[in-house]
Amino acid sequence: MADTDLSKVMKQEVGKEAANRVQSNSILGLGTGSTTAYAIQYIGERLQRGELQNIQGIPTSFQAEVLSKQYGIPLTTLDAIDHMDLAIDGADEVDPNKNLIKGGGAAHTREKVVDTLADQFIVVVDSGKLVDKLGSTFLLPVEVIPMAVTPVLRKLEKFGGKPELRMGVKKAGPVVTDQGNLVIDVKFDEIANPRELEKEINNIPGVLENGLFVGVTDVVLVGEVKGDQTNIREF
Ligand code: A5P
Repeated sequence: MADTDLSKVMKQEVGKEAANRVQSNSILGLGTGSTTAYAIQYIGERLQRGELQNIQGIPTSFQAEVLSKQYGIPLTTLDAIDHMDLAIDGADEVDPNKNLIKGGGAAHTREKVVDTLADQFIVVVDSGKLVDKLGSTFLLPVEVIPMAVTPVLRKLEKFGGKPELRMGVKKAGPVVTDQGNLVIDVKFDEIANPRELEKEINNIPGVLENGLFVGVTDVVLVGEVKGDQTNIREF
């Protein structure tokens, strides 16, 4: 099998494993990204087969909302619920303490709201996302209100980062988030203390949220390719 096929199969398998952990009568946080998309698909298929009943989803993005509707998952809002049983979401990096960098899809603000509310938060990734130190392979996304972009860029440089405004692909100009804001991606040589950095960046006026998720994850499901086979493990 070609590498790209295996990588797709791995995402499908890890998405299916997460979907199989969903129980009837649950309120679910539905994450964003290509891996979670498969989880949403399989949850919808389980609902259609009658294996699951009484599921309500809270989408973390426009993408998650569209997919949930496509696969027949009933949706609700945070105003209408008093708890959330489970959230399933992807990540861009996972460290050995299950801390994450998220926001590759510019959805980290809503993802953090939803994922932190869930009684259990399951992260679905492929093994390429596992790192010893956060920031080693991926830039840290920071959502910023548009009028504050320049002072926030300067402040992030003072923190030792190399910030860049995220630009659109097949769209002239910057990426605009589901909330109508902009995203700055920051390269840090080392994120020595993710918990501190998460707070410090969020304290800059004009920053809405950054992509560090510290102490939030309960379970990580990791898809691995072994030879011609895919394998799912949990940590
Ligand atoms: C969305 O903003 C991100 O946090 C995604 O959850 C993350 O980028 C993972 O996406 P993939 O599963 O597509 O890698």
